[in-house]
Amino acid sequence: MIKKQVIVLSCIFLSCSTYKLLEPTQEDVEKNKSKFSNITLEDLQQGKKIYESNCNLCHKLYKPNALTEEQWKKIIPPMVKKVNKKAGQAILSAKEEELILKYILVIKERK
Ligand code: HEC
Repeated sequence: MIKKQVIVLSCIFLSCSTYKLLEPTQEDVEKNKSKFSNITLEDLQQGKKIYESNCNLCHKLYKPNALTEEQWKKIIPPMVKKVNKKAGQAILSAKEEELILKYILVIKERK
């Protein structure tokens, strides 16, 4: 009985800790051209990199579909400020903020 619970718990733990953010593809670019003008694969790849290397300093990375588009648009600006405050300098600018948002909203569109 106890063994079973341990197995279940460690499965839950493992699936959380090994969660990998999805890699953007050219297909994502094609699908989102009307939503974001001049969207590029490089932008999306950069957005992913910036997100995964700066947004897990205080909490785990939230999955793109954990929040609605409106919630993301609202939460990212204050979170970027938090990153800069923690770093003690403006390591993320408005440009990086936009790249994070773009990556998240594009991946969120995938079903
Ligand atoms: C300095 C610590 C810190 C950093 C760095 C940070 N966060 Fe947060 N984050 C928090 C705290 C604290 C909360 C909980 C409540 C709040 O302040 O909104 C939170 C909450 C969140 C939530 C949940 C909001 C909700 O409505 O449930 C999301 C999504 C989020 N952060 C995204 C990000 C993103 C994206 C970045 C990178 C740009 C980031 N965080 C970087 C501290 C941080």
